[in-house]
Amino acid sequence: MNAGKKMLIGLHLGNGYGSQPGAWRMPGVDSKSYTSFDARVKQAQAAERGKLQFIFLPDGPGAIMADIETESPGFNLDVMLTLAAVARETEYIGLVATGSTTFNEPFNLARQSKALDIMSHGRAGWNAITSSGEDVAANYGKRIPSGEERYGRAHEVVQIIQALWGSWGKDAWVHDKETGQFAHKDQIIPINLQGKFVGSRGPLYIPPSEQGQPIIFHAGGSPNAYELAGRFANAVIGAAFTIEDARAQRNAFREAAKRFGREPDEIKYIPGLMTTIEKDRRTALDRRIQLTEHLFPQRVAYLQQMLGIPLDIKRLDEPLSKVQLDAARPSRYDPRSPHALQIAKQGWSLRDILAHGVIDYHPVIVGPGIEAADHMQAWFEAGAADGFWISPDVNSDGIDAFVDEVVPILQERRLFHQDYEGKTLREHLGVPDQYGIDPRVEELKYKTN
Ligand SMILES: Cc1cc2nc3c(=O)[nH]c(=O)nc-3n(C[C@H](O)[C@H](O)[C@H](O)COP(=O)(O)O)c2cc1C
Repeated sequence: MNAGKKMLIGLHLGNGYGSQPGAWRMPGVDSKSYTSFDARVKQAQAAERGKLQFIFLPDGPGAIMADIETESPGFNLDVMLTLAAVARETEYIGLVATGSTTFNEPFNLARQSKALDIMSHGRAGWNAITSSGEDVAANYGKRIPSGEERYGRAHEVVQIIQALWGSWGKDAWVHDKETGQFAHKDQIIPINLQGKFVGSRGPLYIPPSEQGQPIIFHAGGSPNAYELAGRFANAVIGAAFTIEDARAQRNAFREAAKRFGREPDEIKYIPGLMTTIEKDRRTALDRRIQLTEHLFPQRVAYLQQMLGIPLDIKRLDEPLSKVQLDAARPSRYDPRSPHALQIAKQGWSLRDILAHGVIDYHPVIVGPGIEAADHMQAWFEAGAADGFWISPDVNSDGIDAFVDEVVPILQERRLFHQDYEGKTLREHLGVPDQYGIDPRVEELKYKTN
């Protein structure tokens, strides 16, 4: 680990309530935040107060993963419109939107994302993902294509988009009122790229932003993801439950970057962390119980499978017995199982075991800020992460809790910057200049696993 190297931190901004089911019903939360652009702006401003490098907006697009009868959809109404609103009300924080390479035309994505980059003065990022859900495909009247087609198309879409971004020459715009010359026509040129799946003539009539063009992110962790991100991405939104897994993923992305002639440090691996920050563990557990207790019947059923022992929903107040703990075998099929057993062995009641978030999508901190800081430091110093994307349980006070209780500890330990290094996302991430396609990885050619 380089001495003096600092971690990166992003904020997950989904439906406006937070990452826990039940967040929309918490005291102090506006139950209509789902449609409130003001709420998103406020939340982004809270993250900017903490000097976080970016906000990250996942997207389906359009499918819901929850039961709408009782839960909000997980996504923004529209990621680009949200970021347009946020761009006008913030000054520094990076704005990263997910856009599917499976169901979008590259010209549309190129145009919207570069326009956002101009609007935000060089703070846009595009999370280039392949879509894998049939419910998303159905919104486009399609079925999910094969892995080969999805990743083949993804490699083409990214290259065409980058070529379009670079098609307006860096110095092409003159806008000289005296001479009457608006632009150098010979520096704004068609790209004429046609692949197997997509194509575009161009050019795209948008000049460079302060960072040139948007930064490419990717979210995933499969061998196909390594190939795609290793070639094009500067940051990866990841998911890992252990330091060992995170380190292996980070190394795989770094190795992939090397295979394409890039420096491994050009790609930042950023796994997720979910937070419930309160003054002590008990208060934090009680908050999580309030948020998720309605789901405990189904979660107890699932925990039984994770631990391989019968559990009784009527005994939520009791710790697991010695007989149960001796018989427990963490499931091989769920990487969260060993941690769940570890928490159970600490003697917590069944209710509190669940309140520790042992069935959540990422590692979960339920306790004081120092526990989050310790987790982040351990992973960062073990070479398992270049940073983290944070999913607070409830956005309306959970972002502030992270900013006030975790960020100062990380700053004091010199693990997180005191202030923004510049005004662009490229500067925040410390990634090299790029305009158009990276010549080291260019060729409308792809490889799938
Ligand atoms: C942390 C993380 C975040 C992701 N975010 C999104 C997202 O916002 N939208 C989406 O459609 N897919 C998202 N994905 C899914 C991946 O893009 C990919 O489709 C999935 O990992 C399946 O891999 P495969 O395409 O190699 O089968 C995410 C994956 C991970 C690991």
